[in-house]
Amino acid sequence: MNSLKFLFPSRIGLLGLPDTIEVQHTGFDINAYYQSLFDHYQVDFPASLGKAVDKRCAEYLAGRIVARKAIERINGTTPQIGTHKDRSPIWPQGLIGSITHSDGVVIAAVAEQKHHRLLGIDFEHWMSAQLADELCDQLLDQSEKQLLLQSDLAFERGVTLIFSLKESFYKALYPHVNTFFGFDEARVRSIDTTNGAFIIELLTSFGKEYQQGWSTEGYFRVLSDGVLTYIYE
Ligand SMILES: CC(C)(COP(=O)(O)OP(=O)(O)OC[C@H]1O[C@@H](n2cnc3c(N)ncnc32)[C@H](O)[C@@H]1OP(=O)(O)O)[C@@H](O)C(=O)NCCC(=O)NCCS
Repeated sequence: MNSLKFLFPSRIGLLGLPDTIEVQHTGFDINAYYQSLFDHYQVDFPASLGKAVDKRCAEYLAGRIVARKAIERINGTTPQIGTHKDRSPIWPQGLIGSITHSDGVVIAAVAEQKHHRLLGIDFEHWMSAQLADELCDQLLDQSEKQLLLQSDLAFERGVTLIFSLKESFYKALYPHVNTFFGFDEARVRSIDTTNGAFIIELLTSFGKEYQQGWSTEGYFRVLSDGVLTYIYE
């Protein structure tokens, strides 16, 4: 087994998040994955992975490795990052974070709660035109389709972008609302392709703090093979 083959530098460059958010990323090779890599990298193998296929184990492991590297750069510790039953990561006290993986790339963003209260990140490879067509009605409402028509984005790129924006939003908000919400429960209100920014609003109320109409700004970076989106407050 050559553990060095499992991870390799990703081609993702600087992501433009503030200095208060530590971002780490890596490429990983699913074909170079062995379960004993968990021991090698001293990452606990969670019961939730059970008999998961190698692809799932590999992406989980790579995510935990980069997330821990981000934590180490923040406070010098290398803790285990567990997993809640709902699949959200268990961040150490005082920290928040978010993990995303897509086809051999994994990115983790971590911040101290004294600086940020919301953090969500998502990376998606561009969908094909056919997939975008198939998924469009599940992911976008009429006004979001209109937004894309008025933008300078190719349709499949626009659908990929809105999908990713909503996933970032979900990851950022979930630790606060502790409940599943679907793609029809939030709406992307504006997309600024010049500055890579967007505004997304809730269409459902979750408790006192996150009411219907509550909105937040997020950001995106168009990369050669996909799009990276992130939300922080
Ligand atoms: C959870 C979800 C957002 C993950 O997105 P994905 O594109 O499938 O996968 P990604 O690689 O980008 O992200 C996976 C990581 O998200 C994190 N994650 C999973 N569930 C989470 C949750 N409830 N809250 C925060 N983060 C979560 C985990 O770290 C996971 O990686 P890991 O299991 O290896 O630790 C997605 O699977 C999902 O359930 N979507 C439906 C809900 C939704 O997006 N609603 C839209 C509201 S507008």
